[in-house]
Amino acid sequence: MAAKIKTIGVLTSGGDAPGMNAAIRAVVRKAISQGMNVKGIYQGYKGLLNEEITDLKARDVSDTIAKGGTLLYTARCHEFRTAEGQDQGAEICRKHGIEGLVVIGGDGSFAGAQQLAARGINTIGVPGTIDLDIACTEYTIGFDTAVNTAMEAIDKVRDTSTSHERCSIIEVMGRNAGYIALWCGIANGAEDILLPESYDYDEQKLINNIIENRKRGKKHHIIVNAEGIGHSSSMARRIEAATGVETRATILGHMQRGGSPTCKDRVYASMMGAYAADLLAEGKTNRVVGYRNGEYVDFDINEALAMQKEIPDYMLRVSKALSI
Ligand code: ADP
Ligand code: F6P
Repeated sequence: MAAKIKTIGVLTSGGDAPGMNAAIRAVVRKAISQGMNVKGIYQGYKGLLNEEITDLKARDVSDTIAKGGTLLYTARCHEFRTAEGQDQGAEICRKHGIEGLVVIGGDGSFAGAQQLAARGINTIGVPGTIDLDIACTEYTIGFDTAVNTAMEAIDKVRDTSTSHERCSIIEVMGRNAGYIALWCGIANGAEDILLPESYDYDEQKLINNIIENRKRGKKHHIIVNAEGIGHSSSMARRIEAATGVETRATILGHMQRGGSPTCKDRVYASMMGAYAADLLAEGKTNRVVGYRNGEYVDFDINEALAMQKEIPDYMLRVSKALSI
């Protein structure tokens, strides 16, 4: 069946995530295979407002699937949060013949897509964030690469922690969500995992746990702390003073966002990008692509943004049981 629209745009917005290039490539090539033209918009909504728009052909996305970052660059754009900015964005889409738009990013970027949809531009969101904090989907592009990068880094810190018989607090990203911390905590065998969703700020419990673990013969004590809690350096100073155990803080930072995407990120990104292009070809709008119960699915953006996501309590309890 012929595509319902002729020209679509694609942009990446918010924090970059490994696999975004694979998603762009999939959007471009699947759209072309459906007979649509594709325009790439640089620097997210900021580039849209500045009309940084280029044609994207199949060869323009060659040799990108293995690359980290985003070939379209990304940005955070305050102006696009305003009604004037959104009106202007929709007008610029129309000026360039862009009838549909794939927005690869997180919740914030989807809120922007929702506004463009309300102004007559068909929009589809693709979940691209290392944080895994989008409620409608079990998977977000970039998470797998980020947790593997963080896991390898924490393994290295652990060697030093053991050699010096130290306590190490390692802070991982995730904004207000604790998924990266939870996954790394389990994968790295951390003694404590601090998540914004469940941490009770009872530092005495942490201190007691470190002292107990020393008595049990543990040589190191790894605390994976989520960015949403933060303050790792001051926490380290207080813990050292209270326990007498040398304590160091390491903040992994933006290294978690870079690097070549894992196989899992490349495959999910390819599938989700292609799915988004198919939705636009069918004339759909205001949808977010997700992955649930083994299938690629899509949701209304309004419904998707209203959904809540919880930290799996069983994973947290298992991590405790395994760290004795
Ligand atoms: P993410 O998409 O990863 O959640 P942000 O929350 O930083 O990242 O959002 C990325 C961009 O999306 C913002 O800089 C802004 O341009 C746009 N955006 C965010 N929230 C809204 C909103 N409520 N309405 C319109 N645009 C928004
Ligand atoms: O959303 C991805 C993320 O890396 C979060 O984990 C973090 O809170 C934020 O982006 C950092 O943003 P910036 O790149 O602006 O420092």
